[in-house]
Amino acid sequence: MSKNIQIMQNVKNIREIDIKDKRILIRVDFNVPMDDELNISDDTRIREAIPTINYCIDNGAKSIILVSHLGRPKGKSDAFSLKHILKRLERLLSKDVVFVDSLENAQVVLNTLIDGSVILLENIRFYEGEEKNDSALSQKLASLCDVFVNDAFGTSHRKHSSTYGVAQFAKQKVSGLLLKKEIDSFAIALSNPLRPLLLIVGGSKVSSKLTLLNSILDVVDKIIIGGAMSNTFLKAVGYDTKKSLIEEDLLEEARNILRSAKEKGVKIYLPVDVVATDDIKNPQIIKITPAQDIPDNLAAVDIGPATVKLFNEVIRDSETIIWNGPLGVYEVQKFSRGTFSISHAIADTYAYSVIGGGDTADAVDRAGNKDSMSFTSTGGGASLELLEGIVLPAFEVLDKRD
Ligand code: 3PG
Repeated sequence: MSKNIQIMQNVKNIREIDIKDKRILIRVDFNVPMDDELNISDDTRIREAIPTINYCIDNGAKSIILVSHLGRPKGKSDAFSLKHILKRLERLLSKDVVFVDSLENAQVVLNTLIDGSVILLENIRFYEGEEKNDSALSQKLASLCDVFVNDAFGTSHRKHSSTYGVAQFAKQKVSGLLLKKEIDSFAIALSNPLRPLLLIVGGSKVSSKLTLLNSILDVVDKIIIGGAMSNTFLKAVGYDTKKSLIEEDLLEEARNILRSAKEKGVKIYLPVDVVATDDIKNPQIIKITPAQDIPDNLAAVDIGPATVKLFNEVIRDSETIIWNGPLGVYEVQKFSRGTFSISHAIADTYAYSVIGGGDTADAVDRAGNKDSMSFTSTGGGASLELLEGIVLPAFEVLDKRD
């Protein structure tokens, strides 16, 4: 399992090469959440990119070209323009940044800039070739720089031109400081961790966590399963989950996981009680009920108080904790209590805690525990694939130490 981590830890880092007077193209992940007025609601990903940019400035880079995507645009669209994040970036860097609206103009602009300038390219997903890993686009990006630096952990599971193809044409290609921090933090949890090692897994679908559950059984000591995916497990052990969301076609798979966990000595904890409702958006009935006794016409949407107690015991007894996926519909205040309680419980331990990005990081933030976790990843999909044991494509193409 930790084999993929070892491979990813073996990529060269920006600190290991000479960047003086060089043009550095950094793939960052500025895919930040925005509200309807296009205000940034969480700038963590921009903040996390600052150390690498500053490192380049401090070490005499000739110019720094920042490339990112924002959202999933279908062609060019103002709502997805990276110009909306320019001011925040400038504020966090305490430096002017030149915004360049097309790749074609980038070369011209670069020739006019004073040394140490930072430029931000428009959303790379405005180019059709980006997600197809188009080699002409990859080549164009590589032609802008002497060194390609990947610091976009959140996008490192994508085989796109700016994360993958570009490295094949760049003279030197290394990881940035965030990429290194991410992989080193996961390494603490997965390569020779302090035990017991606990995985807390939630979210709505067993299907999206199937590979993770199967591959991690060889690594962890205990697994807590919550969220809607636990309904499928509850049904698999014979409970009538009534209107709860379940994946019928995965009942056998769930039984296989439980069986395999038992064989490998991994303890699996499922909810013993749940919060059930008739309607998530407009609830008329909300009931705390034993997991084996959910009333007709109700669906489980959060873990109940007895489960919180049970899970707290397991958390308190762990030395390393990895959490991926909320344990209920935490976006709805009435059904957020279980997820938030678990977040508080992890925050209160002295265990080494790693929080998967995406929804889990958002839940920890909303619970007010962001600063109490040992490490919170900037990647949702990327951290899930890393936990599945995959060597993330973005790492594959970077220069190795040996
Ligand atoms: C993310 O938010 O997970 C990354 O920025 C990747 O975005 P994507 O899922 O649209 O590729």
